[in-house]
Amino acid sequence: MKWFVSPRVMCLAALLALPALADNITVDADRDNTLYEDFSGALSNGAGPNIYVGRNSNGDLKRGLIRFDLTAIPPGSVINSISLKLYMSRTRAGNQPVNVYRVTADWGEAGSSGSGQGAPAEIGDATWQHRFFNDTFWVAPGGDHAPAPSATATVGGTLGFYTWTGGQLAADVSFWIENPGSNFGWELIGNESANTTAKRFESRESFNPALIPRLLIEFTPPPGTGACCVAGGYCYVATPAGCDAFGGAYQGDGVECQSGPCGAVVGACCLPSGNCVTLNAPDCLLQGGTYRGDGVACEAGLCPVILTPFVDQLPNIPIAPPTSGSAGGTASYTITMNEFYQRLHRDLPDTRVWGYNYRFPGPTILASTGHPVTVTWVNDLRDEFNVPRTTHILPVDLCLHGAVNEPRTVIHLHGGEVPANVDGYPSDAFLPGQSLTYVYPNNQLPAMLWYHDHALGITRLNVYMGLAGGYVITDPVEQALGLPSGQNEIPLIIQDRSFNPDGSLYYPATWHEDFFGDKILVNGKIWPFKYVNRGKYRFRVLNGCNSRTLTLALSNGASFKLIGLEGGLLAAPVTMTSITLGPAERADIIVDFAQFAANTEIILTNSAPAPYPGTPGVGVVPNVMKFIVTTSAGFTGAIPSTLRTFTPIPEAQASRSRDFILRQEPSPCTGTRWTINGLEWMDITEFPRLGETEIWSFINQSGMSHPMHLHLVHFQVLDRQDFTIVDGQPVPTGERVPPPISEVGWKDTVMANPFQITRVIATFSGYTGLFPYHCHVLEHEDNEMMRQFHVVYFGDFDRNDSVDLADFIDFATCMFGPSIAPSPVPPPPTGDECLEAFDDKYDGDVDLLDFAAFQRGFGRH
Ligand code: C2O
Ligand code: CU
Ligand code: CU
Repeated sequence: MKWFVSPRVMCLAALLALPALADNITVDADRDNTLYEDFSGALSNGAGPNIYVGRNSNGDLKRGLIRFDLTAIPPGSVINSISLKLYMSRTRAGNQPVNVYRVTADWGEAGSSGSGQGAPAEIGDATWQHRFFNDTFWVAPGGDHAPAPSATATVGGTLGFYTWTGGQLAADVSFWIENPGSNFGWELIGNESANTTAKRFESRESFNPALIPRLLIEFTPPPGTGACCVAGGYCYVATPAGCDAFGGAYQGDGVECQSGPCGAVVGACCLPSGNCVTLNAPDCLLQGGTYRGDGVACEAGLCPVILTPFVDQLPNIPIAPPTSGSAGGTASYTITMNEFYQRLHRDLPDTRVWGYNYRFPGPTILASTGHPVTVTWVNDLRDEFNVPRTTHILPVDLCLHGAVNEPRTVIHLHGGEVPANVDGYPSDAFLPGQSLTYVYPNNQLPAMLWYHDHALGITRLNVYMGLAGGYVITDPVEQALGLPSGQNEIPLIIQDRSFNPDGSLYYPATWHEDFFGDKILVNGKIWPFKYVNRGKYRFRVLNGCNSRTLTLALSNGASFKLIGLEGGLLAAPVTMTSITLGPAERADIIVDFAQFAANTEIILTNSAPAPYPGTPGVGVVPNVMKFIVTTSAGFTGAIPSTLRTFTPIPEAQASRSRDFILRQEPSPCTGTRWTINGLEWMDITEFPRLGETEIWSFINQSGMSHPMHLHLVHFQVLDRQDFTIVDGQPVPTGERVPPPISEVGWKDTVMANPFQITRVIATFSGYTGLFPYHCHVLEHEDNEMMRQFHVVYFGDFDRNDSVDLADFIDFATCMFGPSIAPSPVPPPPTGDECLEAFDDKYDGDVDLLDFAAFQRGFGRH
């Protein structure tokens, strides 16, 4: 009676009330895989959402395997017709034959999940060489199958369903029904006689349940069998005794399920994986699902992806290996951007991400103050056919300024005090196949910086896909402090993401003013856990979210010590029990687990509403990760009570103050958008002079906080002051409140909170040129809440002759150079901006328009 129950089989009685002579059933594939002929012969795709056939552009072959469970069809049945339906979801060249062969040996499907190039096989997967990786082999590499195809079909250039049918296919099924131990399914073999013939089909793991492979079987049950109704309206064909044994109600010999004797009712069922399948209520429960109601259809978004927190270990982010020199010193690196699959949670199918050196987040670059690091950044984003990408993988909202549907990338070292030409100017994008080399001088204090994408109009998409990584600068002074290091010093890169049930990243197709993921990842795993020794750890915490602010605390209320901010160490540790980090803010913290008993479990929690500051409890994802204290002793060295000299910049040192009003405005493209002084990216109005100090005031006329970031410099927070709007003008209503001691240090991003004036002070030293400043809510940044300042070097103008080339050179030097400041930085010039000086030269005929034209003519570098 093995064939009696099969939850995968759906009696179509209720759906097709046809007066037929035979029963029809539809069976879903119960196993599938792809074999890849490459040099290793050990690639596979057991758990991936696709099956591939045909030949790659590089000549490698791919073949599909597929099997259906036929135990619902009683032996002795006559198979009247069979059609195998597959959905072709990606294609290279047009019409190609795809043949179906009966497989003659058993094979496996395990957890590997790859794309067009496959993924390393897992134990039990079928590969080109193995029936079961890694100890059971095919007789013929590429799969043992009957010599002649059972069916053939031409698969064209149009995406859609393709069907294989015919007598030999029916004969295969009859054979398998009588000999269930020989049912090894079919092998799908495409056109292997030419390159670039590959076709991709949806597998049984397809994101869209309507597109999974199905076998339609029309059969006449043997005499002495008939419909058997079991609880929930399920119908199977069975013998009277078999029906009885299962507690069903036998409907009589020859009664067909198709005639609807059981009144089966089906509806959408959300499986624990988040996949939606159409089932009846009892079967849905049987599979651990949630039944969404009779007649409810499976639609995208119906089933939330529910994942158990704290089941995966916190990944160790590797240190990037240099190609020459040594990590942590003067060194050169080649770092490549790739597209690949990464397992982000035990229960989630692998996610296609972008990363650096096949890592998401990217490897950590280690550097030391004064030792330059050279990185050749290579864009090698390739699609699943291993072809350099030409389009983005996420939907691109083309109405945003600079947005193009291309996998453009820009590399910015956030927090790096670097020349403009290696800062990653947002429109200096490079495409797959291109690379560039940046030298980072590392003439700055020890701190954790981070590198991330910065492409104009699509930064939020590129970073969301995974293009971010850590960059840690140290120096001997910091090393001498004896802070926890090695295994006890760990970056925690925190990012929020949302997922589709197939594991793919979910991001809306059109621009929204913020995006909040419903899962939190640390170092590339969703809600991970970490075993910690009973000792001190130094965590380099980065809020790497697009929009989400985090208020982090330990679930047992324990305190920790804050020792540093974005730009380096504090003067002294600050004891805290929670810390709020806006996007891009960093906290260097020490947690001492020695105070907790072995086996204590402590959750790192988040309580920040989204949007922030918002309403308490709204939009909060409370879990971040879990620490489990082990019995082992850890690092017990003392944390020094003073860390690093910190000298506040006196306000009087500032030669200029600038106001920046942050507010929402109507936008023809997106309805509304956030702006800085109502101006856009191309409006350049800030020309700080090299070496001079300025005070910048962010006047936030909105109900949400904006994490404001300046490139090139680190600044100090002076104060925050409440204001109100009177006659359209901000009018202060309170005192200037100095920042809390936890914010007294070097920063590169500051939370400008609602209806407050946040003042920061910075010295624009180091390099001339154009640098962005922006809100680090990436959705805001991508939609004009990003502008640029231009650091100028005020050179000597030769004012006594007519305008000549020397004047242009002076002007260019003033505006653009020297690109590396002479040391010491020359005293600030007296007089006006270079523009005005140049204007003088032209007897007042030169104005801002000339300047803009000049700037365009010269280019930036
Ligand atoms: Cu974190 Cu302009 O960047
Ligand atoms: Cu930056
Ligand atoms: Cu903002």
